Amino acid sequence: MIDPAVRNISSGTAIMIGIGSMVSGWIIYDLLCKSPLVHKKKAFAIIGFIIVVIYGFVLSKFLSGRAAFMHVGALLGTIMAGNVFFTIIPSQKELVAAATEGRPLNPELGKMAGLRSLHNNYITLPVIFIMISNHFPVTFGHAWNWAILAGLTIASVAVRHFINLHEKGQKAVWMIPFATIAIIALIIVTAPAKFDSKNNTPVQFSEVQQIFKQRCNQCHSSKPTDDVQLVAPNGVMFDNYDQIHKMTDKIMLRAINTQSMPLGNKTGMTVEEREIIGRWIAQGSKNE
Ligand code: HEC
Repeated sequence: MIDPAVRNISSGTAIMIGIGSMVSGWIIYDLLCKSPLVHKKKAFAIIGFIIVVIYGFVLSKFLSGRAAFMHVGALLGTIMAGNVFFTIIPSQKELVAAATEGRPLNPELGKMAGLRSLHNNYITLPVIFIMISNHFPVTFGHAWNWAILAGLTIASVAVRHFINLHEKGQKAVWMIPFATIAIIALIIVTAPAKFDSKNNTPVQFSEVQQIFKQRCNQCHSSKPTDDVQLVAPNGVMFDNYDQIHKMTDKIMLRAINTQSMPLGNKTGMTVEEREIIGRWIAQGSKNE
């Protein structure tokens, strides 16, 4: 969760921020649902979106990009689960009980449950997008990661809106180009910049291996010494030339283009070291 390059906080603080964001997010959402705003669907959607973006922005200034994304997802997931447990199921139980006992049905209950299910329906796709975004370091590793998250959210809600209208027999065809343009824009914005070094000094593999020993082998090795990663993550090890050589594309992406490795920069890799590895790969990653 912690990336010292973003903010050097303790794990206790990071956990408090994480839990605090979920609890406060739910409270704000629940209050909005109890306000007259909930009946103005468009205004509710716009304000809800702005609040989600603010959460993403603030979280991205305190946690690692990856954790910031996950916490926005967790906040949205908390809202979905909260809706089911605190409104949808209780209203359904009450309506069934009223029907069984022959009491008059309270139409407000069904209406509120319906609105909250509708919110859940729109939240699903952003949550799924956020879940898979963690496999795409170009999104959470980007300097403007919170804005990318906002873009992903709006594009996925547009897709959901299209599906919903389509199911009602309405054709919101304009939604498709909107979502497509939004996604293409995101692809262009997140495309990693090509590595370009002004320095042409040849890099020796021995120098590169030393950096891997200091910054990567703590996790990526046949015998990791990390306190959390007890086996090499994804089976990826950098113990020798062959192992490093076959992963150069991904190393370039994770350690140089996006700097999403070392994880949370736990081993304190420097900008100069990234440049050396990048230059070695750009020079053909040879083992002289
Ligand atoms: C503190 C532990 C840790 C350190 C140190 C670390 N990594 Fe990782 N690495 C991980 C974890 C966990 C994953 C799997 C999750 C992910 O892909 O983000 C991973 C995944 C990767 C991947 C993607 C592998 C795949 O299958 O796609 C690459 C490439 C990588 N690391 C490169 C590096 C490089 C290069 C360094 C050193 C500069 C480094 N890592 C340092 C923990 C670490």
